[in-house]
Amino acid sequence: MPYAAFCMKGVRMDPMLCYIRENTEFIDRKLQEYMTNRTPLLKVLQESINYTLFSGGKRIRPLFCFIVGELFDLSREKLTSLACAVEMIHTASLIMDDLPHMDNATTRRGKPANHVIYGQDVAALASIGLLTRAYEVVLNDPGLPDEKKSKVVSKLANVVGIDGMVGGQFVDLKFSNKSMEHATLDYIHTHKTAVLFAASGTTTAIIGDATEAEVQALEVYANNIGFAFQIADDLLDVLGDTKEVGKTLKRDSGNFVVLHGVEKSKQVLQEHASRATEAIQLFQGKNDKLIALGQMLLKRKS
Ligand code: IPE
Ligand code: IPE
Ligand code: MG
Ligand code: MG
Ligand code: MG
Repeated sequence: MPYAAFCMKGVRMDPMLCYIRENTEFIDRKLQEYMTNRTPLLKVLQESINYTLFSGGKRIRPLFCFIVGELFDLSREKLTSLACAVEMIHTASLIMDDLPHMDNATTRRGKPANHVIYGQDVAALASIGLLTRAYEVVLNDPGLPDEKKSKVVSKLANVVGIDGMVGGQFVDLKFSNKSMEHATLDYIHTHKTAVLFAASGTTTAIIGDATEAEVQALEVYANNIGFAFQIADDLLDVLGDTKEVGKTLKRDSGNFVVLHGVEKSKQVLQEHASRATEAIQLFQGKNDKLIALGQMLLKRKS
């Protein structure tokens, strides 16, 4: 009987769920190793960082790195610094997103948001600290050649910065409303969410010496899944319940569902999911996990 079928103390589980569980635990252990701080004066700052970093995130971006890595025979050890870096960036973005002058959200992953516990000053520093640690861990990875590190870090900086997540969040905060143009909404979803998801795949592909066509296919897959993922998030925002979803809802001044309604949102989500699946035909025979990950993400309840 394969190990995967019995990954939980003799309880039969779906192999994909086993894979997710095992790799999520691996990521948690590695993040812990990157987050030990022995400077007594920084104790509270480190506690604030760890509070959100280890509060039950789904770790989908690192999982995506590992799944893409398998296409290029990359071990997860080879991808550890990158996978942890993208999770640090993502966590930093959530701490920032919840701040009172942003979404003013008080609950995240079923617990008080970072700033509710540690204050806005510490939360802002925790977010910036996590962002910069992300670049550091990739640059300090002895297992990656310099020329790959610089390509990877340059890509990550680009998707975090003004032309990436920062820009997406800015447009969301300043221009999002019930009657915004679809192009504005498209900009927001692409930049605040899809680009980091896509970069998790393309940076992995860089490390794996992928061909131009393979990088392109992964980019189309990830941009579509990332965009659909944000529509799913908007559906939860409108239809969900804070207790079940675990975060403060209805903070968006405009989102896909507010603009287009529930039915249309579900339809567009499916269109993006189909485009994502089509894009990875190139990897036929070894794309099962990519397809399964996409399906799971879009059916999520939290
Ligand atoms: C939430 O992302 C924010 C969005 C980009 C929609 P996730 O749903 O991946 O958050 P966690 O890390 O699992 O809490
Ligand atoms: C946030 O979008 C995306 C980023 C944090 C970059 P949302 O504001 O919709 O995310 P949630 O719903 O608070 O997780
Ligand atoms: Mg937001
Ligand atoms: Mg928010
Ligand atoms: Mg949301």
